Amino acid sequence: MGLRLGDIAPNFKAKTSEGDIDFYEYLGDSWGVLFSHPGDYTPVCTTELGKTAALKDEFTKRNVKVLALSVDSVESHKGWINDINETQGVEVNFPIIADPDRKISEAYDMIHPNASVNATVRSLFIIAPDKTVKLIITYPASTGRNFQEILRVIDSLQLTANYSVATPADWKQGEDVVVIPAIKTEDIPAKFPKGFVEVKPYLRLTPQPNK
Ligand code: BEZ
Repeated sequence: MGLRLGDIAPNFKAKTSEGDIDFYEYLGDSWGVLFSHPGDYTPVCTTELGKTAALKDEFTKRNVKVLALSVDSVESHKGWINDINETQGVEVNFPIIADPDRKISEAYDMIHPNASVNATVRSLFIIAPDKTVKLIITYPASTGRNFQEILRVIDSLQLTANYSVATPADWKQGEDVVVIPAIKTEDIPAKFPKGFVEVKPYLRLTPQPNK
């Protein structure tokens, strides 16, 4: 069975475009984004890795380390990085893991045989500093991911880890959040001094507490 939310992300050692790593050591106390792509020298993946490199400051600001992965070799990754840098106007600034024996892909259930027997799908995992898996998304090869959405989820995860709130549909930094059902309405004023609106007894909105 594949990984599920709340599971511990498996550790691994790997060869990458930036040298050998131990995954846990590489992450340290940071959050992690580990994402697979179907293959090097493919068009959608080229744009995805370019976009990830362009968002380096956004990931760093959030204390997130990013790693990409495919079943291709380090040599292939290194050659492809030149193309990504040239065509996307970036410097790829994160490791691309080589997983030719598919050990990591299998541990993370990144190969879906009915989609492709020999390539990883577009899986993405957000991993908290305690190494628990906080988000899993899987896209088909034909659809490039929305990396603004990944940043948005990281913002939500980091906020909701520290406050008794959840974030509503399409929420973005600075917008109102919902108070989690476990908090009684009479306890809200003490916990959320910026105020709240009770739309329904189960739907209580409050300004984002850390803004
Ligand atoms: C791509 O990354 O561009 C891609 C990979 C496999 C199938 C289709 C597109």
